[in-house]
Amino acid sequence: MSQEIVSYYEDFKEIEKKIWDLLTKAVKDRSSEFRTPVFICGNDKDLDGRVVVLRKADEQNNFIQYHSDIRSSKIEKIKKNPNCSILFYGKEEKIQLRVKAECQVNYNNDVTKESWEKTGHISRKCYLVSNGPGTESEKPTSGLDNKFDNFDFTKEESEAGYKNFCVIKCKIKSIEWLYLAAKGHRRALIDFSGSKKFTWLVP
Ligand SMILES: Cc1cc2nc3c(=O)[nH]c(=O)nc-3n(C[C@H](O)[C@H](O)[C@H](O)COP(=O)(O)O)c2cc1C
Repeated sequence: MSQEIVSYYEDFKEIEKKIWDLLTKAVKDRSSEFRTPVFICGNDKDLDGRVVVLRKADEQNNFIQYHSDIRSSKIEKIKKNPNCSILFYGKEEKIQLRVKAECQVNYNNDVTKESWEKTGHISRKCYLVSNGPGTESEKPTSGLDNKFDNFDFTKEESEAGYKNFCVIKCKIKSIEWLYLAAKGHRRALIDFSGSKKFTWLVP
């Protein structure tokens, strides 16, 4: 079956438009393939990736955000080395995005307040675990007290999770785009450091 030629096949402006369209839609659309990228951080001896949920995509200010538990070991890693990579792939769109960014950990400030307010009662459950993510346990566990495990908590009680809640803001430095097409793949780099620069790359 032939693949239609899309507007963003060989047009930088259209590629950039498509990228932000995918990212902003992913924040709202739970079924978007771009909603759960892999976030990679660490140092030259210990690099690690994990899936996160995209919570904000701000084209004007060029950043994306996700939520986390302040006790996660990635927080210390980010503080030591704020450079990260965020990897997206949409099988249906045939698009891979490799984002390089500089992270900022937000804790107990206006950014976290705004995001926490938007976090529903049920989604707050993961911030109610007694010990931080990655803590060893003698038995298999969700980390939650029975009460929270069974969703037997009120919105007021979920407020206790705020002390563990943080928002990782990822200021985008560059985005590498790969589009898979039968007619020929296309790869491009958008560099946001200094004045915006577009470069075609061999896929
Ligand atoms: C679908 C999915 C969504 C997830 N979303 C997040 C998230 O938004 N933030 C987060 O910190 N961890 C999220 N996780 C859990 C992480 O992948 C990881 O297991 C966790 O953060 C602990 O690892 P770390 O402390 O080494 O980062 C998600 C996992 C899955 C499978």
